[in-house]
Amino acid sequence: MQWVRKHLLGLEELSAEEINFILDRADSFKEICTRPNKKVPALSGRTIINMFFENSTRTNLSFQLAARRLSADVLLFSKAGTSVAKGETMIDTAQNIEAMGVDVMVLRHGASGAPWKLARCVSCAVVNAGDGQHEHPTQALLDLYTIREVCGGIAGLTVGIVGDIAHSRVARSNIWGLTKLGARVMLIGPTTLIPRDIERMGVSGVEVCHDMDRAVRECRVLNMLRIQFERQGERPFPSIREYIQMFGLTRERLAKGREDLVVMHPGPVNRGVEISPEVADGPQSVILRQVANGLAVRMAVLQLVAGVE
Ligand code: CP
Repeated sequence: MQWVRKHLLGLEELSAEEINFILDRADSFKEICTRPNKKVPALSGRTIINMFFENSTRTNLSFQLAARRLSADVLLFSKAGTSVAKGETMIDTAQNIEAMGVDVMVLRHGASGAPWKLARCVSCAVVNAGDGQHEHPTQALLDLYTIREVCGGIAGLTVGIVGDIAHSRVARSNIWGLTKLGARVMLIGPTTLIPRDIERMGVSGVEVCHDMDRAVRECRVLNMLRIQFERQGERPFPSIREYIQMFGLTRERLAKGREDLVVMHPGPVNRGVEISPEVADGPQSVILRQVANGLAVRMAVLQLVAGVE
């Protein structure tokens, strides 16, 4: 196939073929990342800006490094210290930046839908680096890439997503991506953290489960989500201790599961809450592999939206 999309906004709008195309493209960048000289001239002369209106470590640095490895000029923008603090809107800011000759804008924003709004107001390509509680497409792509690499494929696997589904853009993008590629998705958590309408996202192959011990036995992969305390009004469970007891991935619980169970986490990790430190750092964890793969996936995404073959 040929890549024809100008933007990468969400996985909801991508076909399985387009998702696989990005993952296949990332394979060649992963090989490049193992060379002593990790830089290629693909985006030489192009300018990419990271516009981060919300905190980030992994996504921000990964996009920066991906752009630099592709030889692009990289601009960094964060809310603090800019005219946004004086009241300038995101769109005014973006149009002023575009006037300087930018080719790709990578946007993280706390408002769901912000990248779609931006894409309507600028002529350059827009990549969604996480919008509110809506989508985080490159996180899901790197998760899919990692599952494919570790398990040898995605179709037919049972993949559990555990915890704070209600506030998670990672969960939403993963649900779209996994189901499009033929996986069965199990959403595990307390009823208060799983939206009532989640099974009405319009996708088949999604099941809700409130029994973590069953999930550990049945799933080939568990993607442990961070409890997003900062997005919650009232605490949706009686105590952290009870949450750990019911849904935490502890060494004892993991020992009762499949031997080949793969443990993932998008980060940042609340150690000792959704996942115990021994499990996060243990042999079944691929958390740092996800981060490494994120670089190759973001190189592929930037090259594609920049329109460079
Ligand atoms: N996974 C993820 O989006 O992490 P950051 O918030 O650090 O970018």
